[in-house]
Amino acid sequence: MSDFRTVAVAAAQQAGKLIADAARTDFRVDYKQGTTTNLVTEVDRRAEAAIIEALSQAFPDHRILAEEGGEGSQQASPYQWVVDPLDGTTNFAHGFPAFCVSIALEVEGRIVLGVVYDPLRQELFEAEAGHGAFLNGEKLRVSPVTTLDTSLLVTGFAYDQDGRRSNLEHFSRLVLQAQGIRRTGSAAMDLCYVASGRIDGFWEMKLCPWDVAAGSLIVTEAGGLITDFAGRAFSIYGHETLASNSLIHQAMIEVLAGP
Ligand code: IPD
Ligand code: CA
Ligand code: CA
Repeated sequence: MSDFRTVAVAAAQQAGKLIADAARTDFRVDYKQGTTTNLVTEVDRRAEAAIIEALSQAFPDHRILAEEGGEGSQQASPYQWVVDPLDGTTNFAHGFPAFCVSIALEVEGRIVLGVVYDPLRQELFEAEAGHGAFLNGEKLRVSPVTTLDTSLLVTGFAYDQDGRRSNLEHFSRLVLQAQGIRRTGSAAMDLCYVASGRIDGFWEMKLCPWDVAAGSLIVTEAGGLITDFAGRAFSIYGHETLASNSLIHQAMIEVLAGP
């Protein structure tokens, strides 16, 4: 068990507790980029501050890329933490119980550690590169499903209207082929659900690095596959995320590509 993992797990659980406690209180909600679809609450900011303090205290030379703009060291470093303090803010703001904390460590462009914590279900998903993925200490494995018509898929819709419209085209094709489709409102959780076999495939456009950094490693360490929509190498800085149990990947690529 690495020091990186110990610190990241403690930070995720501390932020998760703060979020779960705050869910029962009144909190301030603001809109980002002048749109009512992209929310941020004071709880996102407080959770991020707590995570940054914990990471900076343990690793003062590491850089931090965090959604709400909090920063760690400004020096050049091969180590960068990628943090979403509260993934699923719209759910959280409405009291819909699906949100989590996501923390990943990127070293020279490679994700080596991913931790996702769901504070309501007290589910800790984690992976270290080359060592498998775990949920509360139990090894994770993606599902054995081989066909789209027996698959449960999940997706998400971007904050902007153009992004929403393009995904409607993908959705309208996949909904006719899959056994079912869900939309949880938390991309980090979606990826962990693919890793744990609860979901067979996930696609979404225009996600940000902090949405997918931890979950992408958790999926691959659980035996899944993550690429862009054409099956090319995945980057947390890219615009397309397609994650699956690997067995339905090609079928999803073909339906996403369209007629
Ligand atoms: C959002 C969630 C959602 C996805 C959005 C993300 P946030 O993150 O992951 O599922 O559809 O695109 O931005 O804003 O709640 O951290
Ligand atoms: Ca997010
Ligand atoms: Ca967030």
